[in-house]
Amino acid sequence: MSSNLANATATLRCISCGATPASANQNFRCASCGDLLEFVLPEWSHDPPALKALWLHRKTLFKPLDQSGVWRFRELLPEIPEAHAITLREGNTPLYELPRCARIAGLDSLQAKHQGMNPTASFKDTGMTVAASSAHQQGFRWVACASTGNTSASMAAYAARGNMQSLVLIPEGKISWGKLSQSLDYGALTCQLRTDFDGCVRILNELVRQKPVYLLNSVNPYRIEGQKTAAIELMEQLEWEPPDHIIVPGGNLGNSSAIGKALIEMGDRKLIDRLPKLSIIQAQGANPFYRSVKEFGGAKLESMIADTQATAIRIGNPASWKKALRVLQATGGEVEQVTEIEIAEAKAEIGADGIGCEPASAVTLAGLKKLRKQGFVKSGESVVLILTGHLLKDPDFTIKFHRGDLFTGTPYENESAQIRQQQRAPMVLDADLGAVITALKAAETRNT
Ligand code: F0G
Repeated sequence: MSSNLANATATLRCISCGATPASANQNFRCASCGDLLEFVLPEWSHDPPALKALWLHRKTLFKPLDQSGVWRFRELLPEIPEAHAITLREGNTPLYELPRCARIAGLDSLQAKHQGMNPTASFKDTGMTVAASSAHQQGFRWVACASTGNTSASMAAYAARGNMQSLVLIPEGKISWGKLSQSLDYGALTCQLRTDFDGCVRILNELVRQKPVYLLNSVNPYRIEGQKTAAIELMEQLEWEPPDHIIVPGGNLGNSSAIGKALIEMGDRKLIDRLPKLSIIQAQGANPFYRSVKEFGGAKLESMIADTQATAIRIGNPASWKKALRVLQATGGEVEQVTEIEIAEAKAEIGADGIGCEPASAVTLAGLKKLRKQGFVKSGESVVLILTGHLLKDPDFTIKFHRGDLFTGTPYENESAQIRQQQRAPMVLDADLGAVITALKAAETRNT
């Protein structure tokens, strides 16, 4: 392996005006028009079957960078010198069958790629390994992000591994304890700001203009490049036979942009022969992208004050909406919104398949059910859900749901009666065999 991890140089380009800066500003915005930048891969001469074989072969090697499910696809990544690459062996996540969820959604089969099985338990690690490595290469001492909790957990871990300091800006009281505890343990300077995610982003954008701090939000195009590998690996797991549909949650819209970019690049480079439809699902209380597409045909995006118990996607002004719109149109996907009740129900259904995920990930199943009803997804079609975070990221939500408290005092209290059947509250019993046998019998009666 050469000392550079990729063998040709990717270049930056503005997604709106097409400017091609030699390097990015501190805020990763185009100096001419202020829009986002993206990497453009150079022309390549790789033979697709040989490249696929090489990527698979690397998994059997023992070098950390070959074992990484991100870096083994380095031919589709921007160049980073090997000495600067920071890896926790991210990626290589499982693709699971969800037989119960398939029946519920009215499909012959359904699969989920579980990005919660990454080192810090969310999909963020795949982008963070590349972007943190870029920070290291450029000699930054400090990295920073605004986050709803998963980006910050991931950034804090990769910064620690790369001997960099990290600054986390999170909305006070609006992220799960699991995520907060991760950034504390990984040693980040953690600031809970009295605002929402969008307020944290505003402060961070000001900060990076004044201080030599490297921005690790998904406006950083290195993040997008790393997150592409989830789609590449998915195609490998499907033996390069693309599914009909891929369904992702939409928050700040970096992930959908990344997966869509990977699909388009794989199509252009003859690694796959057709594009899956990429559909994006938002929580109804945090649906600016849904409204942009449905109300304005994608011509503009109106920001909003977001509110949902799926705190990971509680975002009212998504940075990457234009990138996401482009991949939605290029792949022929749909955009949907789902209610708080639908999210909670779908989360329990994914759990009951023995998989589990955090609330934001469950919007995928909830959205799929709607897309099935509308006929956009058909019963015999192949569908892959991208589960973005692990069940244990937000145990509070899960416990409240099963105890029946999740919607107490909310506008959804009455409606929540309809999902009581999914609830499995823990029972407190006397230490008595008879009491346990009675509970067992009651459960058997309920299940038959
Ligand atoms: N699912 C989970 C579990 C997330 O943490 C996020 C975003 C998303 C979905 C949405 O992905 O923003 O790329 O559209 N979390 C960010 C964070 C915003 O700060 O952790 P997106």
